[in-house]
Amino acid sequence: MSETINIKSHTGPYEVAFDRDGLASLNAQVPENAHFIIDKKVAELYGAEMEAVLNHSSVLLIEAREENKSLDRFPAYVSHLVDRNVRRDQMLVAIGGGIIQDITCFLAATLLRGVEWRFYPTTLLSQADSCIGSKSSINCGATKNILGTFTPPKKVVISTRFLETLDERDVRSGVGEMLKVQVIDGPDSFDAIASDYAALFDDPSTIEKYILKSLLVKQGYIEMDEFDQGPRNIFNYGHSFGHAIEAATDFGIPHGIAVTIGMDQANWISAQLGIGTLDHYYRMHPALKANFRQYESTPIPLDAFLSALAKDKKNVGSGTVALILPGSNARVFKDNYASDDRFRALCAEYLETVRAQ
Ligand SMILES: NC(=O)c1ccc[n+]([C@@H]2O[C@H](COP(=O)([O-])OP(=O)(O)OC[C@H]3O[C@@H](n4cnc5c(N)ncnc54)[C@H](O)[C@@H]3O)[C@@H](O)[C@H]2O)c1
Ligand SMILES: [Zn+2]
Repeated sequence: MSETINIKSHTGPYEVAFDRDGLASLNAQVPENAHFIIDKKVAELYGAEMEAVLNHSSVLLIEAREENKSLDRFPAYVSHLVDRNVRRDQMLVAIGGGIIQDITCFLAATLLRGVEWRFYPTTLLSQADSCIGSKSSINCGATKNILGTFTPPKKVVISTRFLETLDERDVRSGVGEMLKVQVIDGPDSFDAIASDYAALFDDPSTIEKYILKSLLVKQGYIEMDEFDQGPRNIFNYGHSFGHAIEAATDFGIPHGIAVTIGMDQANWISAQLGIGTLDHYYRMHPALKANFRQYESTPIPLDAFLSALAKDKKNVGSGTVALILPGSNARVFKDNYASDDRFRALCAEYLETVRAQ
């Protein structure tokens, strides 16, 4: 596939190019005015293919761990770049998944009041979802993604070759976000990806088709609402519960798999509250359950889950939680719900019993 998408953003349009030889082209012509920020594991796996890149005078290798996108790690990153004389007319180039993206994007937003950045996403999650949309999110202390900016890249190059070395759990994490995007597109789109579910793991053309489709659906929303003030909010479907699950399990469950559980929980709770229907929950459940298999019984301590949920960025006022739930027409929408005894009991029932069924 050699597709190109042009995304409109507040800093101008940027191009997302599908190019299986993207890394080879970069390696053949390494830009001098660049500072590379690269996932250490990717540098190890693709050392031969990116030899010239790795020999550039400014390369920062970072292990893709949540602690490394914490604010307290940033002085070391800034020192590295300052030592290599970073200037405003230069650019940062990220090669890695969502963690490397968030670090690079946050640096690009703040360093010298803003430098250009480019992105070579190497995980399915970053190729199919996070590479567009402008957001950077970094952690501070124990609070995940509490600091952030809207800073679009100048260019994104997607090489699906990178996916060949991903662990299965990281493939499923990306598939979780793709399932979410197809739900947002509508019930028919979800049914289509659900029936192609097995092919997502062994047929490169199917995965490429759904990466493109996911980006096109997301493009429609971010161009309408780049700063997440309204319509784009529904991309947080599965995320209030998903983030709380990640926090309560100390990030033992990959993001997109926690989001998959979060969507299943949202569908079930919506039906219990009389907002959505049990039919809808049962229709989506087989594909979601397949995607969170092996995590259906991972302990998720209820108190830690509820306290993380109470701190969600979307909440306004106390005693309520902002959730994106499906309505009776299977379309998701955002609203505020009382975080009362009934709601807590439903969360307990889902996490302790329903999730494993
Ligand atoms: N800014 C955004 O819009 C946005 C959106 C969604 C998620 N995120 C953030 O992204 C992070 C999750 O990102 P992610 O799921 O892309 O993964 P990641 O960056 O956490 O990487 C997951 C694992 O895959 C490895 N890896 C990366 N590329 C590989 C490859 N080609 N082959 C083999 N292994 C490879 C990494 O070393 C790591 O071990 C979270 O911190 C989340 O908060 C940001
Ligand atoms: Zn997500």
